[in-house]
Amino acid sequence: MSGPRLTLTAAGEDFDTAGAAAIAETIADAPTATVVVATGRTPMGAYGRLARDLPAGAGSALRVFQLDEYVGVPTDDPRSLAGWTRRSFVDPLAVDPHAVVWLDGLAEDREAACRAYDDAVAAAGGLDLAVLGLGPNGHLGFNEPPSDPSSRTREVALSKASLASNAGYAPGLDVPRSALTAGLDVLLAARRVVLLVSGRGKHEIVRRTLEGPVTADVPASFLQRHANLQVVVDRDAWQG
Ligand code: F6R
Repeated sequence: MSGPRLTLTAAGEDFDTAGAAAIAETIADAPTATVVVATGRTPMGAYGRLARDLPAGAGSALRVFQLDEYVGVPTDDPRSLAGWTRRSFVDPLAVDPHAVVWLDGLAEDREAACRAYDDAVAAAGGLDLAVLGLGPNGHLGFNEPPSDPSSRTREVALSKASLASNAGYAPGLDVPRSALTAGLDVLLAARRVVLLVSGRGKHEIVRRTLEGPVTADVPASFLQRHANLQVVVDRDAWQG
């Protein structure tokens, strides 16, 4: 591979604009693209920007896949990642929520829910775009270290690093201990990946991800082998 396309930006608005532009590129090429989208703090500005800048309805035919979900949290709970995906991406882009492939963290048979998700990805012909954030421990989705590239969509126990990082998402509420995540296998097979990384706290891990050894201990490091990776990173994260 020729290496990732690195888009280095100032923190804040420049970062959000570059993130939005990276996503808009796929929408311009393929308005019915299949996309998996991260929640978390990092992409929120980019999603807001995207919704403001796209012509009305331009994103509405996207086929959206949820990236991850806590186990046992109803979608109207403030912690629900489905709710967050809907508020931040699905509704602002006017995507039909019934057309979204959700990860059902309330399913009694969670293994079956994961297989249904993978079947839906396969039936859609795979993912055109994965918009991902970078976990403080190098996770993608909730593929916690160690995760190898063949890791399937599954239930995972969240690491201490993820529990600490996610505690701020819904202040005052416990972070659930387990989650369903799209597998590294489907994420790495996406035809294009946009990795969004911001803030000084991500400096060490973004460098390990892109410049360190490719290892299951830093699941995101497998992106080094991806043929179509764009990393949008702000100077705080890149330079520390
Ligand atoms: C969120 C997700 C996580 C986050 C990552 C970074 O759906 O799957 O992998 O993308 O933990 O989170 P932030 O952006 O809050 O630093």
